[in-house]
Amino acid sequence: MTPVLSVKDMTVRFSTPEGPVSAVNGVSFDILKGECVGIVGESGSGKSQTFMAVMGLLASNGKATGSAKFKGDELVGMKRDKLNTIRGSKMTMIFQDPMTSLTPHLKISRQLTEVLVLHKGMSERDARAKALIMLDRVKIPDAKRRLDQYPHEFSGGMRQRVMIAMALICEPELLIADEPSTALDVTVQAQILELMQELRAQGNMSIVMITHDLGVVAGLCNRVMVMYAGEFCETASVDEIFHDPQHPYTRGLVGSIPRLDKPGEERLTAIRGQPPNLQHLPKGCTFQERCDYVFDRCIAERPKLLAFAEGRGKSCHLKGFDAKGEVLR
Ligand SMILES: Nc1ncnc2c1ncn2[C@@H]1O[C@H](COP(=O)(O)OP(=O)(O)O)[C@@H](O)[C@H]1O
Ligand SMILES: [Mg+2]
Repeated sequence: MTPVLSVKDMTVRFSTPEGPVSAVNGVSFDILKGECVGIVGESGSGKSQTFMAVMGLLASNGKATGSAKFKGDELVGMKRDKLNTIRGSKMTMIFQDPMTSLTPHLKISRQLTEVLVLHKGMSERDARAKALIMLDRVKIPDAKRRLDQYPHEFSGGMRQRVMIAMALICEPELLIADEPSTALDVTVQAQILELMQELRAQGNMSIVMITHDLGVVAGLCNRVMVMYAGEFCETASVDEIFHDPQHPYTRGLVGSIPRLDKPGEERLTAIRGQPPNLQHLPKGCTFQERCDYVFDRCIAERPKLLAFAEGRGKSCHLKGFDAKGEVLR
């Protein structure tokens, strides 16, 4: 089966007055049809820029190298015209801040229908009917009236729903959701996640869910890729990430989730230290300064992301951890 998205050796560098920033450092992965993949990692680890590069949306001081194929078509370096036939219709992205993708002075109806008229050759009338269906589907009450309003007339949560409707109206094959609920209050956050769950259950669309919150992926995703300093340090099924994490960083992340189910054990061991400076990455493992298990090889040699079991990979020189959490060397 051809993956929907296949990324190989992708790097993203930004040039800044202080020198180059290595935001993404040679990542390779596939997103398969119908799967929902969670991308987790601390803020600044390169989650967004990996997918901004895929979408061809890097800031002007950024440059991507390597390959990103959407159903076989190379996106890196693709001409804008051709790229525009894919992004926004077959591959769409929703952002943390809906105002970045909504145009303030255009009615919601126009913003929803434009893509249908332009990409799908629909009549205004049919497009409007479809827009109405979409607003219903993302549970915007009183959709008919709402359609003729402007973005500022919507609350933050409702705007986020409009953006989700916009991202879905063309029935994309790949939806990239970049922290779609982070800026919202807890109740709305839960509603948006519930909506994502429904969408996932309804179609065979592939979803990439970018989040710094492991809790978000638990109910939504089937696979997780953990990002650290511009690389993936562990990839596994959701179940394995929570119950048998094998990279020390993943163990730290999982260990820092408050245990609501076991109030006595609500340890919050935030991982000590800070991520490395992306302008001066160390020669060896990028996690070495924060790792409790560091040894000579970690300082001398950067571990690669290697498969170690069916569907699992890690970039770590340790053998792993046993079921009791004891390190294996
Ligand atoms: N336009 C830019 N110029 C310089 N550095 C940037 C730019 N955009 C992003 N970065 C840097 O790239 C790194 C990765 O960013 P990002 O992918 O947004 O992180 P995440 O989404 O994981 O929080 C960060 O250190 C960020 O400061
Ligand atoms: Mg981000």
